[in-house]
Amino acid sequence: MTTEELQTYLLEHFHWLHRHPELALKEYETTDYVKNVLKQTEGVELLDLGLETGALAKIEGKEPGPVVAVRADIDALPIMEESGLPYCSENEGCMHACGHDFHTAALLGVAKLLGEQKEQIKGTVILLFQPAEEAEHGGEKVVDTGIFEKYKIEKVFGLHTRPNLPVGTIAIAPGPFAAAVDRFLYTVKGMGCHGSAPQTGLDPIPAAARLVGSLQEIVSRRISPLETAVISVTRFTSGTSWNIIPGEAELEGTVRTFNPEVRAQIVKLMQAQAEGLEKEGYQVEFKWLPGCPATNNDEQLSELVRKEAVEEKFHVTLQHPEMGGEDFSCYQELVPGAFFHVGTGGDYPAHNSKFTVDPAALAGASRLMSEIVKKALTAS
Ligand code: NI
Repeated sequence: MTTEELQTYLLEHFHWLHRHPELALKEYETTDYVKNVLKQTEGVELLDLGLETGALAKIEGKEPGPVVAVRADIDALPIMEESGLPYCSENEGCMHACGHDFHTAALLGVAKLLGEQKEQIKGTVILLFQPAEEAEHGGEKVVDTGIFEKYKIEKVFGLHTRPNLPVGTIAIAPGPFAAAVDRFLYTVKGMGCHGSAPQTGLDPIPAAARLVGSLQEIVSRRISPLETAVISVTRFTSGTSWNIIPGEAELEGTVRTFNPEVRAQIVKLMQAQAEGLEKEGYQVEFKWLPGCPATNNDEQLSELVRKEAVEEKFHVTLQHPEMGGEDFSCYQELVPGAFFHVGTGGDYPAHNSKFTVDPAALAGASRLMSEIVKKALTAS
């Protein structure tokens, strides 16, 4: 297949996907579309992912060998598109503003390329179209289906569009680049009373305000300066009126970390803050809602990606760690994996209503990923 033919093939799918964005766990049309394309792709066999949305397929080589998976996320965001593209969203209030349409199309391209080369493949390629990356814990849901054990997946690869990188560039680095994403909630209960007589109740507002202050000291005073962590209180809710001291206050926010030990240390310290306030007579409930862990790129596989990219004439830059999340990390907990950014140009950041990717990057991304998979199948 020439690069031109591949690009035409990919554009058709990319345009359809961009027109039909769907939110996490609601990717029904997308799933049907992907399955239909896979069914018509030579050398590809559709498998059962075991989830309502998302899809799974395999390309089984002529001879046995390692099992390598490639993952693309397929969901979109609740954003009203303002890109002005001729193929803009037809689903009002929903938009592919993170490039997951690009990821899906690129993986359909990998299916096409590797399906055609099935006879030369030693081993098995698993194609995973994951639902719900943006919300609803799609990565965890896929892990819970047990497909990694069932198909004996040994390595996993994935990519993400990158708006501030030019087409023809990729960014990769070993180790972490996306953080563990956790959520917390404190409920501080005191006793409500008249605003003129605080001594008759137990005011939760100053206690919760002190809690906000002491949370700032966890990262600055208790965590090693050589580690990275963020604790952000993003919601502080309390009270109903100017002359009533309320009975309770709520704090909510997020914690981002790279190192699992630091993550565990922060949970303990946050719990201790709650216990401190309880000694003053407040009833404090602390809820820790864990999200995906930090990504962790395998050193050898990152090097494999870098080498292949150079061979495919990509400009390769270093991927810097960021405190955002990426649930590809769920798979890296199970098997070694590498995740990289593909330059897709554009003037607006991800999750912006004017976000665009340059589809010119599609054929290169599909070809690069296919070459990476072939290399991973031979290197063991
Ligand atoms: Ni994304």
